[in-house]
Amino acid sequence: MSIIVTGSIAWDYLMRFPGRFRDHILPDHLSHLSVSFLVDEKERHRGGCAPNIAYSLALLGNRPKLMGTAGSDFEDYNRWLRSVGVDTSLTVVYEDEFTATFTVITDLDHNQIASFHTGAMARARELSFHDLNPDEIDWVIISPNDPEAMRRYARQCRELGIKFVYDPSQQLARIDREAFMESLQGASVLTVNDYELEMAKKLSGLDEAGLLEHVDVLVVTRGPEGSSAYTREAEYHAPPAKPRAVVEPTGVGDAFRAGLLTGLSRRWPWPTTLRLANLAAVYVIEHTGTQNHYYTLEEFVQRYRENYGDDAAVQELLAEKKEGMTVGG
Ligand SMILES: Nc1ncnc2c1ncn2[C@@H]1O[C@H](COP(=O)(O)OP(=O)(O)OP(=O)(O)O)[C@@H](O)[C@H]1O
Ligand SMILES: [Mg+2]
Repeated sequence: MSIIVTGSIAWDYLMRFPGRFRDHILPDHLSHLSVSFLVDEKERHRGGCAPNIAYSLALLGNRPKLMGTAGSDFEDYNRWLRSVGVDTSLTVVYEDEFTATFTVITDLDHNQIASFHTGAMARARELSFHDLNPDEIDWVIISPNDPEAMRRYARQCRELGIKFVYDPSQQLARIDREAFMESLQGASVLTVNDYELEMAKKLSGLDEAGLLEHVDVLVVTRGPEGSSAYTREAEYHAPPAKPRAVVEPTGVGDAFRAGLLTGLSRRWPWPTTLRLANLAAVYVIEHTGTQNHYYTLEEFVQRYRENYGDDAAVQELLAEKKEGMTVGG
């Protein structure tokens, strides 16, 4: 049994400028803008959609395989991922590239100036599912990555009959109609947030029912309102779990997807899967960074009970742990 997670792998550099950008940008001189901000705080966080999803999958008792591309600065990140139970054997390191890097400076007014250097991510299209044995793969998630890589992975999974979750997220802005429609073909699940759902509808010219002619399930996250799943026959809605603190929401969507794959790979009923995914997501809100949360399965199951009551399916996670079973080993 295995779950393969594809998507960006990145380092996130977050800096804080103890002033206001507007005091340093002269509107009359924008034609030769040259500004340098002396920043006094800098943090580096592990990021990228694929490791974010894989990390929460590992916390939930799975042994996900991370399939992505990274650069020469990936060594400690790689070691850390392996130490938390992520299999990185399908990740390719290009020594002549940097790992994708997200850099953002935030000022006192919460204005942000950011950049994303693709680096090794631009080579994700060089990896192929044709090099793997499809019989050993249960689920794949195609998360935001080099757009051409996303399109190729969807095509390969379709050709090989591998079940996949199509998760275009913010890359919807970079995908044209043709690529979107092509990638939907053969996807078992399309997952988007409520804003992206509107983008997907506009891009495809289809409504929810129309999208469901191309995928079996449409999963929609609705921020503080929880999440929904739509099939051709029914729809399911799950209320959010209660965050204990709201610190920083970045990465909630990725943790949600880890919960989604946990339920899908065990064929759980939709209400259970959505609730579990909602709970996996709230842990991220309680911490800065997208992989700085932690829980044991015992704590997770207890908190599930506090939010949603008893659920035999979720108890299975504890039983699997006792038996030393991991999905994707
Ligand atoms: N304030 C909140 N309280 C409780 N649960 C939340 C909250 N915000 C998000 N969630 C949970 O996280 C899930 C995903 O959130 P959301 O729809 O905001 O994803 P997103 O917009 O893709 O996030 P991002 O891309 O920033 O990671 C929701 O379905 C919900 O379960
Ligand atoms: Mg998102």
